[in-house]
Amino acid sequence: MTKTRLLIVEDDEDIRTQMKWALGADYEVLTAGDRAGALTAFTADRPSVTLLDLGLPPRPNEPDEGLAVLSAILSLDPLAKVIVVSGQGEKQNALRAVGAGAYDFLCKPVDMDELTLVLHRCVYLAELEQEYRAMQAGAQAGVFEDMLGASPQMQAVFDFIRKVAPTNAPALILGESGTGKEMVAQAIHRRSTQSGGPFVAINCNAIPENLLECELFGHEKGAFTGAQTQRKGHIESAAGGTLFLDEIGELPAQVQVKLLRFLQEKCFQRVGGRQEIASDARVITATNKNLQEYTASGKFREDLYFRLAVMVVKVPALRERGDDVLLVAKAFLQGYGAEHGKPGLTFAPDAMRALSVYRWPGNVRELQNRVRRAVIMADGKRVSARDLELADAVGELPTQTLKEAREAVEREMVQEALRRHRGKITSAAVELGISRPTLYELMEKLGIGREG
Ligand SMILES: Nc1ncnc2c1ncn2[C@@H]1O[C@H](COP(=O)(O)OP(=O)(O)OP(=O)(O)O)[C@@H](O)[C@H]1O
Ligand SMILES: [Mg+2]
Repeated sequence: MTKTRLLIVEDDEDIRTQMKWALGADYEVLTAGDRAGALTAFTADRPSVTLLDLGLPPRPNEPDEGLAVLSAILSLDPLAKVIVVSGQGEKQNALRAVGAGAYDFLCKPVDMDELTLVLHRCVYLAELEQEYRAMQAGAQAGVFEDMLGASPQMQAVFDFIRKVAPTNAPALILGESGTGKEMVAQAIHRRSTQSGGPFVAINCNAIPENLLECELFGHEKGAFTGAQTQRKGHIESAAGGTLFLDEIGELPAQVQVKLLRFLQEKCFQRVGGRQEIASDARVITATNKNLQEYTASGKFREDLYFRLAVMVVKVPALRERGDDVLLVAKAFLQGYGAEHGKPGLTFAPDAMRALSVYRWPGNVRELQNRVRRAVIMADGKRVSARDLELADAVGELPTQTLKEAREAVEREMVQEALRRHRGKITSAAVELGISRPTLYELMEKLGIGREG
């Protein structure tokens, strides 16, 4: 744990030393004796809390200098936390300071117990505010734990992760393939209390049914022909961390029973073993299937379903995320562009339209693949719908946007008028029924010279 930074502004050296000594165990204490020193320290080190003596040199018996420091700090950071300290019988000044934005005040001689209490509350509030600000900044930029998404749909997913991660409850992640379910699981892990432990991901569909039980629970030596040594399973390796089971709907019946027991009792037996082995691995599961249908048809145990689905989140399909498609596409374009030595690539208007109207059955993974390919295929700086292999997607749409159509008409009329008037701006503008400056602006916007 890093200590909270505290700035003490006090002109009396004895008091300063005394406080530093008393608070040094709990805080990283910085000190200053006058206005200049205080502002230098505040700017350089941004302490969470400032303890400010109102009476500072050159006039230690007046509050002016202290109030000036207060207002300078607050103009540097309107949310800065400043506790003012004033002389006995100067409560008026202290109240003035609170009116001007100080968090609280104390009277000299300062009672250490009172100071500790006030500081404690103040630091708590400052940290909450900082966390909130960081969260807001992240939300605005549309990035959360490496996941991009500014849409309300994705913000809801991020909110789920924030709330569920620290609880260590099992979580079930639903969503079409390629929507980012594994990324969500990783984010939950990183924000959990077991983030220091391993994250073990298993795709239940990728392992043959007869091997899955051994993979998950491990086996003893001689458990079956060919089991020459004892082997640990993934549940054991994920102890202290998270076990992520993808495509959970495909779990064979006998493995479902064993997993249920593990969730209930936090222990299990290796295949061919009797010994109870404990593991505190948190279980996160995911599926792109309708698990409730699976339980109705008996393919998936209902009791297991309820154990896994304590907290459920649905990751929306990419086509349901509004402008996130463009946000994510641009980020990929930048990333792959840099990777392939083609910086500064942009999407042509037809590509932007294709990205927006296409249905994205493969979701973010498909977008990733199409952009990666387009970066390689693109000639010049513009990536077209064809580079994305989405020319068909825009094929059925009107070939021009309203803006493009308007510009085409404008271009034709301006060129024609200029030609007729041999480049004479004044007469061309009169014919077009617009002012000269407007005609100049149009010519510049459309890239047309005097000769048309
Ligand atoms: N919001 C996002 N921002 C940036 N990249 C993303 C986002 N969501 C997913 N990706 C990327 O898309 C790819 C697919 O993500 P992931 O493997 O998490 O999806 P999934 O839902 O688990 O897929 P599947 O159903 O195929 O298992 C990964 O390369 C991941 O990095
Ligand atoms: Mg996956």
